[in-house]
Amino acid sequence: MGFFPVTRPRRLRRNASLREQVAEVRLHVSDFMYPVFVVHGYDIKREINGMPNQYHWSLDRLPELIEEIKKSGVLSIMLFGLPAIKDKYASENYADNGIVQQAICEIKSLYPGLLIATDVCLCAYTTDGHCGIVHNEEISNDQTLDILQKTAVSHAKAGADIVAPSGMMDGMIQAMRYALDQNDYSEVAIMSYAVKYASGFYGPFRSACDSTPKGDRKSYQMDYRNKSEALKEAQMDEDEGADFLMVKPALSYLDIIQDVRRNTHLPVAAYHVSGEYAMIKAAAEKGWLDEKAVLLESLTAIKRAGAKLILTYSALDVAAWIQADNSGHYQ
Ligand code: PBG
Repeated sequence: MGFFPVTRPRRLRRNASLREQVAEVRLHVSDFMYPVFVVHGYDIKREINGMPNQYHWSLDRLPELIEEIKKSGVLSIMLFGLPAIKDKYASENYADNGIVQQAICEIKSLYPGLLIATDVCLCAYTTDGHCGIVHNEEISNDQTLDILQKTAVSHAKAGADIVAPSGMMDGMIQAMRYALDQNDYSEVAIMSYAVKYASGFYGPFRSACDSTPKGDRKSYQMDYRNKSEALKEAQMDEDEGADFLMVKPALSYLDIIQDVRRNTHLPVAAYHVSGEYAMIKAAAEKGWLDEKAVLLESLTAIKRAGAKLILTYSALDVAAWIQADNSGHYQ
């Protein structure tokens, strides 16, 4: 054997304290943003198909959820609304009494310190389920910008801290920044879904929002065969005034998260989307995977790739695991 090997990486893996001492990445409760779905009506807490333990909430039932969020230590939510009526121009998106606008007021009154981000998109609000206005069978980019501007201002007026356009329209950040500033909401931040791929992993979310489009979203969401385009999209959104850049989905796009991270000074967010959540939940229900182990590993990988912020349906569970863990593993 002689003296080989002199270097033994296993020395630093010998026990938990050593492993802790050299761990490079740790999840923290402040990393998470929790998606919340609000609906019209009363006394509704309805589990979403394909997303076990995630619910549609009516406003009167929100105190229960907000209390849980407060206890978890999670700092922020991403709000999605299901309108009473869908139409061609996504009118409820920017209505003063829209479901999201009402929810913002309600949540701010229950827990003023909670950061509220709102998803700004048309797909749940339009009859054809597209993220833009359909004109002559095409998605009209510039007509859509007008709606995004009105929606951003309306959400800001209701009290949103962050508006998050997810429709992949060209120029959406510049248009929204301009509208917000013109209306005296220069302090409201924009989290751009900057790099969003046309993905099969959004399935459960679309049934949750009843937003499955006629056709597909490939004329505006990105082709997953492309990478340079991701950097171009991220750069454009940064130049247009975005405050955060998001990559979505997360796990199949760790290379993209890493590249975006290396090319910006903005905080990078990643969305661990509904399909990613559903896969883990389904396998765990069958006893095929250990949910906690797989989630902690997945979310840590997303952070290791370069995301500071992780949008995840598991935020409250993971926060509770982190809090309960006395070893200081994740702190
Ligand atoms: C709206 C939007 C979608 C998601 C977030 N915002 C759906 C889509 O683009 O089809 C997906 C989130 C998820 O799957 O968890 N444009």
